[in-house]
Amino acid sequence: MIAAINTNWVMEQDAAHVVQTYKRPPFVLARGEGVTLYDAEGNAYIDWVAGIAVNALGYGDPGLTTAIQRAAEGLLHTSNLYYTEQQAALATVLTERSFADRVFFTNSGTEANEGAIKFARRAAYDSGEPGKHELVCFSDAFHGRTMGSLSMTPKEKYQKPFMPLLSGVKIAAFNDIASAREAITDKTAAVFIEPVQGEGGINAATPEFLGALREHCDQHGAVLVYDEVQCGVGRTGRLWAHEHAGVAPDIMTLAKPLAGGLPIGAILATEKIASHLHAGDHGSTFAGGPFITSVARYVLERIAEPAFLTHVQSVGEYLKERLEEINSPYIKEIRGRGLMVGMELHVEAAPIIEAGYKHGLLMVNAGTNVIRFVPPLVVQNSHVDSLVERLTGILAAL
Ligand SMILES: Cc1ncc(COP(=O)(O)O)c(C=O)c1O
Repeated sequence: MIAAINTNWVMEQDAAHVVQTYKRPPFVLARGEGVTLYDAEGNAYIDWVAGIAVNALGYGDPGLTTAIQRAAEGLLHTSNLYYTEQQAALATVLTERSFADRVFFTNSGTEANEGAIKFARRAAYDSGEPGKHELVCFSDAFHGRTMGSLSMTPKEKYQKPFMPLLSGVKIAAFNDIASAREAITDKTAAVFIEPVQGEGGINAATPEFLGALREHCDQHGAVLVYDEVQCGVGRTGRLWAHEHAGVAPDIMTLAKPLAGGLPIGAILATEKIASHLHAGDHGSTFAGGPFITSVARYVLERIAEPAFLTHVQSVGEYLKERLEEINSPYIKEIRGRGLMVGMELHVEAAPIIEAGYKHGLLMVNAGTNVIRFVPPLVVQNSHVDSLVERLTGILAAL
């Protein structure tokens, strides 16, 4: 029996003692089941956020619970000074199922991107070409909040108070081949792109664009990095989002869903890039520990099952179809892949998200005008029907 949670007490303590970087709705999440979360007062919410594209298997998944229990019975932490079977096994599965030859583990998405910057800079350093340190990113990109990743997240609100950031970062227009061609030169160490932009509004890179980036990177000896922190690991209905385009990168960064809700990140690299990294070049105390890698292996193998990915494709298609049926003058466009869907509005998303709480829906924005749907990947068509019914009512009352 869990002791009753006092909502007012939690909100007061948070207001008094937690750094106020998040604007939270006035309820306390207490438990979850499947794709439904319950607050401390017992109100139910269908979860279209999943911890921002993290909780791929939903809440209380029996297989995940068992995997966590088994992992907890073994070693929790040892340090990367030593081998563990769990880390080696996860790296083996990740490389067997991707373009990559080697993996470096991290604790989060932003750390994976920081590491990828270092990998690319290390390869550029070995090339001996003077001034080859520049990074290219794209309009509306989001690569994280730490200084290197933030430097490639071109949003004034996020960047301005923290200047100066990394120098030598160029911003090209997303899906604009001419703009990318201009930005990528012999001075470019790496090009970072999300195959499907998340925070920036659910925008998929076209296969032509990724193909052109591949070509320009090869031409100028630059490392092509796909940030699949949000769109990777089954979210789009393929294990990796870039499979839709069929263009491989040199490095791919992962995080969010990889351990089903526990913190992990990964940098996947080809041998060509990884061979530039030597003992002492990079490190992390916690990353890739035996507990987390054991859980992540379970999650990855579940998601990689063909039937699981087919389910994501099928519910994702149904979600788009049903959202398109909503007849509202406020809706501009429905777009996305798999269970990474955006609804662009002619109005701000915030009031609709807020109204959602009263109708038992958790939703999140992606930029000012886009509602983002990134539910647990185990969501069903029946949940889509409930969403559409409630959202139709909210939009009609706007
Ligand atoms: C594409 C992408 N990259 C990087 C990050 C940063 O990941 P984290 O919050 O784990 O540092 C995010 C987080 O939203 C993301 O969506």
